[in-house]
Amino acid sequence: MASPRNIFVLTGAGVSAESGLGTFRDRGGMWSRFDPMTLATPEAFARDPALVHEFYNLRRSGVIAAAPNPAHTALAALETHLRDRGGALFLCTQNVDDLHTRAGNRAVMHMHGELLKARCLACETVHPWRDDLFVGTPCPACNRAGSLRPDIVWFGEMPKHLEAIDAALRTADVFVAVGTSGAVYPAAGYVAQARTLGIRTWELNLEPSDNARLFDAARYGPASVVVPEFITAL
Ligand code: APR
Repeated sequence: MASPRNIFVLTGAGVSAESGLGTFRDRGGMWSRFDPMTLATPEAFARDPALVHEFYNLRRSGVIAAAPNPAHTALAALETHLRDRGGALFLCTQNVDDLHTRAGNRAVMHMHGELLKARCLACETVHPWRDDLFVGTPCPACNRAGSLRPDIVWFGEMPKHLEAIDAALRTADVFVAVGTSGAVYPAAGYVAQARTLGIRTWELNLEPSDNARLFDAARYGPASVVVPEFITAL
């Protein structure tokens, strides 16, 4: 493959699995232990905000305790490598952890939001957040108590950065999916969109995903191994 100039990388929970953060649909995954409809929807938050805050506080403490793994580090190095050559890495993640940023990536499109941010339902402001959120936590901007929610895109809500993602896909030379099952749209549809655009597509995953047949090429194994290998071979 001639050295690509612009690379679009879509990551999912599998890229953070070796950092100790659980995936959703693997054996023992989060959605096999918790019902997403009672924790990850606007209706669930309206019904029991304390329960939803407790669930995300637990996940937030796990993220803060986690560290980037070699897959994150390799993707941060790839961003610098491409930028130094006048190209770009378009890093779109479904993950709500901050491990890509902590690994050094400067441009990360968090299409499902960020666990370390809180959004005020009253004034819509978004704030960095590392502590536990409680029902009574006042908004730092408008001081309304009980109006803060995790800045996470829940089921039934519109993902973020869709226009930027679309534009990035149209300028990419290569599309790479890392650590995602291809189960949730619109992210699961990006590989088909890339193919329509004539872009070469790679899957880097522990095992073939639901979308495996749509990829031109693949490397299967732990992300901390296959991602650095893939990037070294570019
Ligand atoms: N290295 C690489 N891939 C891995 C590893 C690993 N160490 N461990 C697991 N995987 C792969 C699994 O084989 C699976 O294909 O990562 C994928 C994880 O799939 P999911 O658990 O479905 O996670 P994801 O694809 O990110 O889910 C998408 O669903 O619930 C929503 O908002 C949530 O962002 C999430 C979205």
